[in-house]
Amino acid sequence: ASPKYRFFREQGLRPVRQLPNALIVGVKKGGTRALLEFIRVHPDVRAAGNEIHFFDKYYSKGFEWYRQTMPPTLEGQLTIEKTPSYFVTKEAPRRIHLMNPSTKLLVVVRDPVTRAISDYTQAISKKPDMKKFEALSFINSSMRMKEVDTSWGPVKLGLYARYLLRWLKYFPLSQFLFVSGERLVVDPAMELKRVQDFLGLKRVVTEKHFYFNSTKGFPCLFKSEGRGSPKCLGKTKGRNHPYIDPGVLQKLRDFYRPFNNRFYQMTGINFGWS
Ligand code: A3P
Repeated sequence: ASPKYRFFREQGLRPVRQLPNALIVGVKKGGTRALLEFIRVHPDVRAAGNEIHFFDKYYSKGFEWYRQTMPPTLEGQLTIEKTPSYFVTKEAPRRIHLMNPSTKLLVVVRDPVTRAISDYTQAISKKPDMKKFEALSFINSSMRMKEVDTSWGPVKLGLYARYLLRWLKYFPLSQFLFVSGERLVVDPAMELKRVQDFLGLKRVVTEKHFYFNSTKGFPCLFKSEGRGSPKCLGKTKGRNHPYIDPGVLQKLRDFYRPFNNRFYQMTGINFGWS
């Protein structure tokens, strides 16, 4: 870089696109959009608006391509991207480690049973002729006891402990922050405090930024990034879930229990799913 360029950069006067310092890597339907929209209110955070899918789909385009998809930042600003499929992509931990071994990793997790229903609700909204959730959750076997179908995406993605194990081969636990999807709805300011501390940011996003919108049924922002007007997430966030047979819900809860307990052990956090 030329001395002039360096001068402006060091003064923080010249915006440059940088590779992300932190990633929201998952989980799908955990509340990842809410987290991204809330944290990007912080003046020291710049975020890629869309899911870039670099570490799963577009890795062959190279790091320079990835960097160009990022927003320009001034000195001292963090760059964040979110693509929830990274959490379940085999190659993602190795690739992210290769990019920068000190990348901070945020994972929004949610009760795997509700997450599965949320995932299904999204899928059926795009493909209305899908079978019922109750049918898809179990392997078709009239002879044996109904067995949970772990090959079905919405069920499989909830096995958080399995996926986390792969990440821990590349990153220490201290580089992760696990955000509770449930608490993000009930008390967003509290979760955002944890997130800002983890990212080494001043606590700027607080209770004052949120209000509960009773029409939406979710917390919304008084002011969003770059706009002065209130903002709730879009229609695809906070969908009504279909009624699910209570017996099926119980079977799924029983199925997930050991995996959840394993996940609590690994993270040192009891998320309170039952
Ligand atoms: P549902 O649509 O099933 O309710 P993601 O952004 O990772 O796809 O997650 C979507 C989920 O975020 C929604 O699932 C919703 O429950 C949750 N969520 C958390 N905070 C929200 C908020 N403030 N507004 C809307 N949805 C929110």
